[in-house]
Amino acid sequence: MKRNFLMGAAALASLATLSACGGAAGDNAAAPAAQETTAAVEAPAAVEAPVAEPAATIDFASMTTDVAKGEKTFALCRSCHVLDEGMNRVGPSLYNVVGRPSGSVAGYSYSDANKNSGVTWTTEVLFEYLENPKAFMPGTKMTFPGVKNAQDRANLVAYLESQSK
Ligand code: HEC
Repeated sequence: MKRNFLMGAAALASLATLSACGGAAGDNAAAPAAQETTAAVEAPAAVEAPVAEPAATIDFASMTTDVAKGEKTFALCRSCHVLDEGMNRVGPSLYNVVGRPSGSVAGYSYSDANKNSGVTWTTEVLFEYLENPKAFMPGTKMTFPGVKNAQDRANLVAYLESQSK
């Protein structure tokens, strides 16, 4: 009995091997079709990419802001900046930052990029800068990737403005 069972199992196993081979041939035939499908799916994605660009041109003035939420987002900055006058940490004090010329905090050792940028930190400039500081100011030593979400960034800038005179 047991022996018959084993032989039967062996026969089934070889059947399975046979059908697996048959299946492999079928898979090969199907492969090019699968590739075409992938290509067809990729094309619309490439067309969509430029649609993201207008988002970068949103201006601060067009946003409705929430200062309390902006204060929470400022947590992202606290490891390197404080708002107290003259208190430089890894980054310069952000005391009165809105309206301040870049690179103007006494006693802070700025990169040339920041010191010589010639920008004034208006709300609009901050809103743009904080999306991607290194893209806005190549050579800055502020190693912070940016606040990508426009609403979060607008709230943050509104908070900085509320803390400036
Ligand atoms: C990892 C540390 C780090 C974090 C986090 C960081 N910064 Fe900075 N930040 C710096 C450094 C360093 C500089 C000086 C850059 C230079 O000299 O190139 C700087 C410069 C700046 C300046 C220019 C100031 C001036 O006087 O010209 C502003 C504005 C600024 N940061 C805002 C922010 C805000 C707002 C956040 C939070 C969203 C933030 N930073 C997060 C390190 C940081």
